[in-house]
Amino acid sequence: MNKKDLNKNLHKAKVNKEDEFYTQLTDIEKELKYYKKHFKNKVVYCNCDDPRVSNFFHYFSYNFEKLGLKKLITTCYQNQDMDLFTKSDSKQAIYLEYSGDKNNNSIPDIQEIGVNYLKGDGDFRSEESIELLKQADIVVTNPPFSLFREYIAQLIEYDKKFLIIGNQNAATTKETFSLIKENKIWLGYKSGDMEFKVPSHYEARKTRYRQDETGQKWRSLGNICWYTNLDIAKRHEDLILYKPYNKKDYANYENYSAINVDKVADIPMDYDGVMGVPVTFLSKYNPNQFEILGQTHSGDISKEVESLRTDVKKKHRGIIDGKQKYARILVRNKRL
Ligand SMILES: C[S@@+](CC[C@H](N)C(=O)[O-])C[C@H]1O[C@@H](n2cnc3c(N)ncnc32)[C@H](O)[C@@H]1O
Repeated sequence: MNKKDLNKNLHKAKVNKEDEFYTQLTDIEKELKYYKKHFKNKVVYCNCDDPRVSNFFHYFSYNFEKLGLKKLITTCYQNQDMDLFTKSDSKQAIYLEYSGDKNNNSIPDIQEIGVNYLKGDGDFRSEESIELLKQADIVVTNPPFSLFREYIAQLIEYDKKFLIIGNQNAATTKETFSLIKENKIWLGYKSGDMEFKVPSHYEARKTRYRQDETGQKWRSLGNICWYTNLDIAKRHEDLILYKPYNKKDYANYENYSAINVDKVADIPMDYDGVMGVPVTFLSKYNPNQFEILGQTHSGDISKEVESLRTDVKKKHRGIIDGKQKYARILVRNKRL
């Protein structure tokens, strides 16, 4: 193997390695409590989840009756061992099917869980995983961060309802942003910090890392959110605006016909033109209150953004006093 290919493979391995972030049960419970009405009589599919240790499997199997689920299907990736985290050492994987408590002890016992062998490694893109996906009504998981775009594209292609964990940065990628702009997907309740268990082979870090008294390694990320297309009360709640617009605090960009707003809380209550707001706005977005037009990004060549550009040579982020501001979402208040 030449040096270039070797580097490429090492990079790939590193990216793969960084996919093993295991979600805590409390984080799942805190989010899922807002979605209970959606699950009645539904088939839930967790397609990136190691059997038994996945807290998504745990949550849905233990709450199966309470949610009134029809069936729970869970596939693991490259693993056959019911009780271990993925070690990515097996080419074959298994999937579990659970149809509820049979012996009335309110516990998903091992003999009540159907264990089936997959032909392949359980990749969510494989034909057999797609067959399981087709059976599902709602997909809920924390998918591999490195494959997020492909993952969400597949859910859209198969027209599935979903609730998944992702990085907030993914919201501004071309594909995901278009889905948000078209109100096909939105952000769930929790956005911000989340701590995950990581495998023992993950290296220690100076920040956002700890090892607990049992030796378990933990890493946290500050920009995590949930993406969903299940309706939630939050997206119908108006963001309370209280600041009046003035020319001094809300400068116009030099390259967009829009004003700059540095904090979501500072969005003026009485400005009916286009505003560039921080990306964190997306977690407060109510489509009845605001319209999303695009982003201050050279990759956004939508007609809405092109029509706001005032300098064809400066298609990048918004400029004020000769300096580029952070990436902004271009929005308009629909209530004015
Ligand atoms: C961020 S972790 C989350 C694990 C689990 N869903 C949870 O929340 O605890 C993503 C998982 O996806 C698995 N994975 C990586 N590539 C995959 C693929 N192509 N198909 C299915 N799963 C994959 C990883 O092994 C990893 O366990």
